[in-house]
Amino acid sequence: MDKIDCIILAAGKSTRMNMKLSKQFLEINGKPIIYYSLYKFLTHKYISKVILVLNPEQEEYCRERVIHRFFRDREKNIYIVYGGETRQDSVFNGLNHVISDYVLIHDGARPFVSYGCITKGIENAYRYGASSCYVPSKDTIKIRENENIYTLDRDKLLCIQTPQCFDKNLLINAYLKVKDGNYTITDETSALDIIGGFTYFYIGDYFNIKITTKEDLWFGESILNNILGED
Ligand code: CTP
Ligand code: MG
Repeated sequence: MDKIDCIILAAGKSTRMNMKLSKQFLEINGKPIIYYSLYKFLTHKYISKVILVLNPEQEEYCRERVIHRFFRDREKNIYIVYGGETRQDSVFNGLNHVISDYVLIHDGARPFVSYGCITKGIENAYRYGASSCYVPSKDTIKIRENENIYTLDRDKLLCIQTPQCFDKNLLINAYLKVKDGNYTITDETSALDIIGGFTYFYIGDYFNIKITTKEDLWFGESILNNILGED
């Protein structure tokens, strides 16, 4: 299998975390969250380079406090680009710098992704054109519409995670449609939905959480202490 480029998204504003420092730079067990995501992809056998999407105001901080501190020897494999106002803008900026035929996208705020989950994502994208991992919903989910609240069938609900991996041209075409139609999307498989494309969904890991609110930092510490050495 050819090696592919991956895009790691780290240009968000961390509003729900509500702390001074953006969440990707907060530390768990003495290392910044973005360190763990970067490390996994920089050391994965099928990844050629990481396109790291950052807020321009945080580039210097990230270079000094993350890249120079932990990845001096791998600096040439990290290519920094600037993000946009929304996640989909950030992905689009990253896509411009992909040179491989396939591309993988990952939330920088999901530091505990396993090597196996990344490998499956790439293999499934090679086979089906597009892939994403998910976990079955543990919670009952309801939808509120004005005064009415509806219950969804839990057995049919998928909690979508990253990595998501794609045939690059397929994803670019989908993203051009998203731009044209002014659609709002919060993951890449939704771009494929818009063009009627097929995504292969495979089961990921419950520990592949997205660090979003403060209590996720405690969960993260616990996950890190339990998955150490496993894949
Ligand atoms: N992201 C990005 N560019 C944006 C928005 C989000 O690169 N304009 C990234 C985030 O840095 C994060 C990932 O996309 O790694 C998932 O987004 P989310 O968890 O929503 O992070 P934030 O948008 O930063 O957080 P919040 O929604 O609470 O503001
Ligand atoms: Mg967000």
